[in-house]
Amino acid sequence: MIQIHPAGRLKLAVLASGRGSNFDAIYIAAQEGRLDADIKVLISDKAESLALQKARQRQIPAYFLDPKAYGSKSAYETEVVSLLRRHQAEVVALAGYMRLVGKVMLEEYKHRIVNIHPALLPAFPGLNAQRQALEYGVKFSGCTVHLVDEGMDTGPIIMQRVVPVYDDDDEDSLSARILEQEHQIYWQSLQLMAEGRLYLDGRRVIVKA
Ligand code: GAR
Repeated sequence: MIQIHPAGRLKLAVLASGRGSNFDAIYIAAQEGRLDADIKVLISDKAESLALQKARQRQIPAYFLDPKAYGSKSAYETEVVSLLRRHQAEVVALAGYMRLVGKVMLEEYKHRIVNIHPALLPAFPGLNAQRQALEYGVKFSGCTVHLVDEGMDTGPIIMQRVVPVYDDDDEDSLSARILEQEHQIYWQSLQLMAEGRLYLDGRRVIVKA
């Protein structure tokens, strides 16, 4: 069994493409002492990302890196990794980062990249997970925090939370119900990491007491 992170404060980087509410929830958990982490840097692949603005307001170093300015995913990720290293990030939290992670980042941060997904994986991976759940007609959905591997939302699962799907739900109402839980399980999962309690056994994540 591999310990995912030794007990100790996380040196965290956040990668985000959008609104940044998960970033905010993690930031506030750290501020309030529920999460033993320092957010060292935030990187976005979208110039207009609200997450960038939020990080700047919080005095966290924040960078926009444009994937289109690089010849390949590897070239882009080499730049991302160099920024992460410069800010001494040891764990990377993807928070609404709408891009498949490639081998450069995966090699540098093996088992140290975490993602949140708005569905109960392995159901409804990829884009528009809440819409997929509604269209399929499931009665329960939820969210998943997992380690990132080379697949699309396929890595080992750390924590999940279930929410009901109601007959009169639309994408917005279901997304909001799920998001509330995302804002809880992301920092809770990271805190387990900071406490040195997460172990990897094959593709199972074991939480030690
Ligand atoms: C969240 O619902 C997150 O789970 C989802 O994007 C939203 C980002 O919101 N991520 C994915 O769908 C990844 N496949 P936020 O920017 O407010 O944190």
